[in-house]
Amino acid sequence: MWTLLKKTGRRDEARSLFTARFVRRLLKLAQRSGPVGANIREALPPSMLSDGEIFFLDLLLSAADRPVRIAELGCYLGGTTGLFARAAPKGTKIEVYDLFEHNGASARRLKADPLFDPKSFFEIWRRNTAPYADAIDLARGDLRETASLRSEPLDILYVDIVKHRSLVNLMPRFYDRLATGGILLHQDYFHWQSPWLVYQMEHLLEEGRFELLGDVGFNMTVYRKSGPCPAHPDYLDGISAERKLALFDAAIARYGHSKSGMLAVSRLRLVQEIGGADQARLAAEIAETYEQSPRVLRYLRACVDSAGQDNVW
Ligand SMILES: C[S@@+](CC[C@H](N)C(=O)[O-])C[C@H]1O[C@@H](n2cnc3c(N)ncnc32)[C@H](O)[C@@H]1O
Repeated sequence: MWTLLKKTGRRDEARSLFTARFVRRLLKLAQRSGPVGANIREALPPSMLSDGEIFFLDLLLSAADRPVRIAELGCYLGGTTGLFARAAPKGTKIEVYDLFEHNGASARRLKADPLFDPKSFFEIWRRNTAPYADAIDLARGDLRETASLRSEPLDILYVDIVKHRSLVNLMPRFYDRLATGGILLHQDYFHWQSPWLVYQMEHLLEEGRFELLGDVGFNMTVYRKSGPCPAHPDYLDGISAERKLALFDAAIARYGHSKSGMLAVSRLRLVQEIGGADQARLAAEIAETYEQSPRVLRYLRACVDSAGQDNVW
């Protein structure tokens, strides 16, 4: 079956890595991944991915029939770095972008590690990814300073870094580097602390720059680049509040219960930033509509408690 899948994936477009149809098939398979993702996880450094996401990314990278160039924005302890390096063909390069500085939870979690440093988890990442060092092209530092360091065309762009508004206008630099037919993976899409990505991607879909192929688990959305983006707006100040919210509503309408609820919380986070007066009413509506979804209610509580304060990651 695997050979057949790979063949159907390649037939129609000679130069592109994967067809949309092929990736959609993998996304379907990932819904029924059972314990396979958990087994793959055992061979990898720790990651924040779900079993289904691990399964899907492993399948996707294993199906590449040539070395690829990947940009990994946000690697934390190296779980995603290791997954890409292990599954992709030999000769693959992974540009790894990370600041390697703890947030509060990370510093508490890693205290017992022999390589623990109170400020940085870099040495832990380096130990965890040592077997894959040849595949890694490291861009250490704040993405606001490192985003323009590389210019080679990308086959795959993996984004798990955008939990602060200052990063959203850097994304187009990476979107532009992605080859037509290249795959974009947004790990943060449904996360309530990442509202800017939701209306940014909706805008790019509307413009026909990307095709939405599907989603995995409760976090990741998957796109295929359809063509070049001639110009990008300023995604913070160059789009009106009404337009941002209208784009958001189009995204929310696409999804079923929990996912639309997660996006509704993300929209509330955006309203907190815009300064809308109806925040309490919106929160009450979300609580009522999604009262059966503990996940949505948990995110809603965190969003309301944060009162729109900036988060780092
Ligand atoms: C959610 S974690 C990545 C998790 C990883 N992909 C995994 O699945 O295990 C987000 C990462 O983004 C990094 N990060 C956040 N803001 C950043 C910035 N402005 N510049 C560089 N890295 C940043 C953090 O250091 C953190 O390692």
